[in-house]
Amino acid sequence: ANILVLNGPNLNLLGTRQPEVYGSTTLAMVEDACKRHGAEIGLTISCAQSNHEGALIDLIHDARGTQDGIVFNAGAYTHTSIALMDAIASVELPVVEVHLSNIHAREPFRHSSYIAKVAIGQISGFGADSYRLALDALATHIRGGRP
Ligand code: DQA
Repeated sequence: ANILVLNGPNLNLLGTRQPEVYGSTTLAMVEDACKRHGAEIGLTISCAQSNHEGALIDLIHDARGTQDGIVFNAGAYTHTSIALMDAIASVELPVVEVHLSNIHAREPFRHSSYIAKVAIGQISGFGADSYRLALDALATHIRGGRP
């Protein structure tokens, strides 16, 4: 199966951005780990990142037909973007929402997620490991297991 690992705004700064919250692993390291873990469990991983809402929407649209699912960290757009929610609903691909930090243990404005309304599930709070857990969950889902 082909999986897109998609990262939103400010995640290009991972590793140097508030390391006490998000850890010291860079985005390149996260993407590399996703590709390696994906290969181990039979997934072909493509990676993309954008700071722009419209560009993320285009990437989600483009995933239709080429990808079997998306692991998505929408960054702060998680809490604001009806447009990203609609894009996910439109392409009908399974999406696992990912966060490095535990958004439910942080400021109240981070507790709600538009992405969660259209995702098959959410993994939040395990740092860079959140991506690996999301890939495992998506692989199980695509192979017809539950969840
Ligand atoms: C984040 C959590 C969001 O609230 C925040 O805006 C981010 C990163 C995370 O991975 O923990 O940019 O998505």
